[in-house]
Amino acid sequence: MKLSNTTAQNSFKYGWLLSRIFPYIKPYMLRIICGFLVAIPLGLLDGVTAFALKPYMDYVVGKQDWIFHILGHEFTLSWQIFAFIIPFGVILFAGFQGVLRYLNDYISAWTSQRITNDVKMDLFHRLIYMDPQFFDENPSGIIISRYMNDPQTASAGIVDQIKTITTSIFGALGLIAVMLYSSWKLALIGVLVLGVAFVPVALIRKRIKETSNKNMVIGGNITTNINETYSGNKVMAAYELQSRQENYFRDQIWKSFNINMALTKRAAWMSPLMYLIASCGIAVVLGYGTHLITSGQMTAGAFASFVTSLLLLYKPVKTLGNTLTGIQTIFVAMGRVFELFDLKPSITNKKDAIEMKDLNSRIEFKNVCFEYIPGHPVLRNLNLSVNKNETLAIVGNSGGGKSTLVNLIPRFYDIKSGSITFDGVDIRDLTINSLRHNIAMVFQDNFLFTGTIRENIMMGNPNATEEELELAIESAHLQEMIAELPDGLETLLGERGLTLSGGQRQRVAIARAMIKNTPIVILDEATSALDNKSEAIVQKALDNLIKNKTVFVIAHRLSTIKNADRIAVITEGELVELGNHEQLMSIENGQYRALYEMQFRKQEALV
Ligand SMILES: Nc1ncnc2c1ncn2[C@@H]1O[C@H](COP(=O)(O)OP(=O)(O)O)[C@@H](O)[C@H]1O
Ligand SMILES: [Mg+2]
Repeated sequence: MKLSNTTAQNSFKYGWLLSRIFPYIKPYMLRIICGFLVAIPLGLLDGVTAFALKPYMDYVVGKQDWIFHILGHEFTLSWQIFAFIIPFGVILFAGFQGVLRYLNDYISAWTSQRITNDVKMDLFHRLIYMDPQFFDENPSGIIISRYMNDPQTASAGIVDQIKTITTSIFGALGLIAVMLYSSWKLALIGVLVLGVAFVPVALIRKRIKETSNKNMVIGGNITTNINETYSGNKVMAAYELQSRQENYFRDQIWKSFNINMALTKRAAWMSPLMYLIASCGIAVVLGYGTHLITSGQMTAGAFASFVTSLLLLYKPVKTLGNTLTGIQTIFVAMGRVFELFDLKPSITNKKDAIEMKDLNSRIEFKNVCFEYIPGHPVLRNLNLSVNKNETLAIVGNSGGGKSTLVNLIPRFYDIKSGSITFDGVDIRDLTINSLRHNIAMVFQDNFLFTGTIRENIMMGNPNATEEELELAIESAHLQEMIAELPDGLETLLGERGLTLSGGQRQRVAIARAMIKNTPIVILDEATSALDNKSEAIVQKALDNLIKNKTVFVIAHRLSTIKNADRIAVITEGELVELGNHEQLMSIENGQYRALYEMQFRKQEALV
């Protein structure tokens, strides 16, 4: 599943998207409703100022007292009182509105962050269980962009937009109410014109979606580029690749610029168009309003109040217009987010998978065929049986499929056909956890996590005792190195454990495997980064590690290979020879013998 190719197919299915995000919104419903309740008066209060203009104009400017009747009694409010009250009233309302706005902002920031957190955590939970194949296919930048940036846009956006939309809608409604109160005829004209002003928004939805998808891919490419510049900084410096990285970066930035400008070219006329339509409306209203006033159907105050409302109405309407375009981006991001939720790892537990307890007799490969890319076989019809507590060395040409073979054992990848069985049980019938629980692996390039050396070793078995830890350190011949470090076992390792040399990293990894103490051990060129002297030490460490274990060891060192019970020669994905050192050496024109002549004799001479 290549994430850069998926295009948020469902981003226009608004109902479906909302139903998917609803479970995340639900726990915060009460708060969201509170925010909503605050947003209503907050919006409506916009109308109050406009509304206040009518009595101000009619009574204060016209110097008229207000006479009104309650229960048959006549009351009079003098115009001086209005002149006094109204300005204070305006301030009071502004203060009240300020408090509401603060509450509204606070509630919506809180809820949107909480929802975003929940979505991100759920997505990350899925990410960590994806197959190696998923990580093979997708560069780091795309992963970051899809798993971190999109949920932020999608879920933070949705709450913010709900807030903006409700305040704008109620703002507009309040003002429209004032307009209706002032003159329903004029109001009708105003509202009609505004409705027309919204039409263009619908027209550019698709383009916004395309732009958003393209921007996501570019954002991902840029992040990958920065990650590679970081991780590959030495290779970059050594091969003077700075300009290559820079050109790629520049290229992506420009692409993004062009894509965004293309959208702006199409979308930016919307706002002026809305202005134009709106001003036509205002022109009509002014003309008709003059008629209404001169014919005595409307007071000057009502007209002032109306025009003010109409002008104030522009703000919420414009906000709504912008929001409707902005919300497209959010729905597209949501579409991408829920696409990720629907990704299923291809390697999963069978429904009635059983727990693997121990290895009792043998591991068998039967007619195993495997390919990473359909149509490009990497392992062909491989048959192999390894007995409990046997050590099998695997040798062969580089790229022949040795690493692939051992990666199939913990089910990093599933085979295309054939079977791999533990004691006769297909590994696909075992739970993944229990299967991997029985296997310890040491690789050529061992990844150490940010954390202390102790933490990195204890990852093999978090429940290990202090004695077991000591033993693992001793067996991996790490004690001297640790003793020299200022913080000893508590020394922090950098992002990639860069403070350690390759050989030191391998020994930490060996200790990690040692402390896991599993019946099956897989060593994939686990000593390749060691010099001859430390190799001799680590060899002893490995001897400790593989004692009474079933071991697959891919090695370049003759001693490791010679000591193995049997040796499998893998060439171009096929098992071509199998036997112990003497047996394989005795094959005329044998591949092992050729390999031995080429590589190992030299080593033997050195020792
Ligand atoms: N993750 C992967 N995706 C696609 N092809 C791969 C992957 N890993 C290895 N290959 C290919 O599979 C073949 C066998 O690789 P590998 O098992 O690593 O060889 P070896 O360990 O014997 O050197 C090679 O042609 C390699 O290009
Ligand atoms: Mg390999």
